[in-house]
Amino acid sequence: MCGIIGVVQKRGQVAPFLHQALKRLEYRGYDSVGMTTISSGHLHMKKDKGKIEEVHKKLNLDEMPGSIGIGHTRWATHGAPSQYNAHPHFDCSNEIAVVHNGVIDNFLELREELGSKGHKFSSETDTEVIPHMLEDYILDGMSLTEALTEVTHRIEGTYAIVAMTTKQDGKIVCTRDGNPLVIGKREGATYVSSDIPAFLPMTKDMILLLDGEVATLTTDGVEIRKLSNGAEVERETIEISWTADQAQKGGFPHFMLKEIHEQPDAIRNTLRLRPEVLQEAAKLIHEAKRVYFLAMGTSGYAAIAGKHMFASLAGILPDFELASDFSDTVYNALSEKDCVVAITQSGETTDTMMAVKYAKTFGVRVIALTNVVGSSITRIADHTVITQAGPEIGVAATKTFMVQLTALAQMALALSELTGFLDNKVIEAKRRFLEAMPDIVSEVISRNEERARRLAGLLYDQPSLLFLGRGISQATAEEGALKLKEISYNHAEAYSAGQSKHGPIALVQDDYPVFFIAPRDETRNRIIGNIMEMKARGASIISVIERSDEELKGLSDHWFAIPDGIEPEFSTMPYVVPLQLFSYYMARRKGFDPDKPRNLAKSVTVL
Ligand code: AGP
Repeated sequence: MCGIIGVVQKRGQVAPFLHQALKRLEYRGYDSVGMTTISSGHLHMKKDKGKIEEVHKKLNLDEMPGSIGIGHTRWATHGAPSQYNAHPHFDCSNEIAVVHNGVIDNFLELREELGSKGHKFSSETDTEVIPHMLEDYILDGMSLTEALTEVTHRIEGTYAIVAMTTKQDGKIVCTRDGNPLVIGKREGATYVSSDIPAFLPMTKDMILLLDGEVATLTTDGVEIRKLSNGAEVERETIEISWTADQAQKGGFPHFMLKEIHEQPDAIRNTLRLRPEVLQEAAKLIHEAKRVYFLAMGTSGYAAIAGKHMFASLAGILPDFELASDFSDTVYNALSEKDCVVAITQSGETTDTMMAVKYAKTFGVRVIALTNVVGSSITRIADHTVITQAGPEIGVAATKTFMVQLTALAQMALALSELTGFLDNKVIEAKRRFLEAMPDIVSEVISRNEERARRLAGLLYDQPSLLFLGRGISQATAEEGALKLKEISYNHAEAYSAGQSKHGPIALVQDDYPVFFIAPRDETRNRIIGNIMEMKARGASIISVIERSDEELKGLSDHWFAIPDGIEPEFSTMPYVVPLQLFSYYMARRKGFDPDKPRNLAKSVTVL
């Protein structure tokens, strides 16, 4: 939540780059935007409420002087979206500019203290205490780096902070605790950002900044020090494997549609995970007394599907717990014999991070399944499995969900191999089937996209839709309903089809749309029973079924066809695709931007 960018470069105007970098970060928040540069010893500032291009139209963000600058795109926590609450924030004399992502828990107390010393505030944000504190420390003779270090000793909460001042021109200082910041470097320029795509067109050389460190950026590079004792830290440069093209729309009208179409490649790349990485994960799970899958949102639905895969392929049934509720659910019933698999595409979700930190206090072993190298979760996990979706920019997760399923399937098979649960021949056959999945998903996209678009034209004004499935297909149904809620704002609910007659069926009346995820697996006969119950009450049935399933076509008003014979444990992968496409076209039909749904941000870094 909130996107931060900072750059210090030897020559040239920095504003056009800041503007474009903010656009690449806009998925992190988009209720207001702001930029500040330094030129001729003065701060230049433009900021306002609204999405970046709206603000740019009004203020022309490209026309700001200076070769050093910072920018911010906001997802509001403290203070409504408005011009005065937009970042950057400043000190009393407009010489220090700060952008921040996170929450300062003790800001009220600090604000009162600073107010009593005569500081004047011009926003309702928690962030604004930071430039005012920096102002005092710098007046006491500290460098900006020392001043920011002092600030971190006073503030409580989570943060990524980037600051600069006209008094010490030519450098940007940043620090983090609980919120992401990565540094990029090339000849004559140094960058800092909440996420890699922001500077990807300029450099693939990345340096990680860890919690508890402060970095000073100049045109010559970066110096990192520990906040606790000021000791200098040596940090190697990592080469990013993502390409700048992956962070562009590449001819598609939206990132979401592009990312749906990228799913075959994403699966293909994730199938190349090194066997040792999967085997180590399998070993940790095998050695554990209890296994918990922890995640939020879409990653949570991948976890539920994963739970079915592990039960069926490896004979173990992990518990799925919402990371946000984990400590309230398990209390102290954890031990060092347990294992947590934390699933988070961003690797930054605070709910998931907090649950993992809680588990670690009991000595629980942690496996992280994430799409982002060097993300926060990778630094606290005992073992990490990195999925290979490339950057996902659309706020609604699609290809990262697909690769989470791909990785979980491979982990379950590695575990089965380790324990001998399934015969090796069966495991090999399942692996071969996974190898075919990129082509299957590709076919599902091409055969169902137009159908999804037409169905959206029929259903776009439905106030409510129901998504039902049994077994692993309940996870598919849940993900379908979540996608629809997120980007098209239709009310959508997913249920176990078995549970539907215990309450949700009361909603059904003539033409009420009910989606059934109905692969030809062992749940089929019972699903047919549920379809009949819904039809008897006038529901309009939309089914996702095997291509040759004439019986279900006959019972459905509309259907999406999936190739026959999908291995049941992997069915979520192709069966979710028509639901992703349907949500996308529903949002388009209603005139909403699928990439930037209201009230949401891609990675949720508040509790
Ligand atoms: C998915 O479309 C949502 N944007 C959201 O539910 C997301 O899956 C959730 O916030 C978890 O994110 P993570 O995978 O980065 O932890």
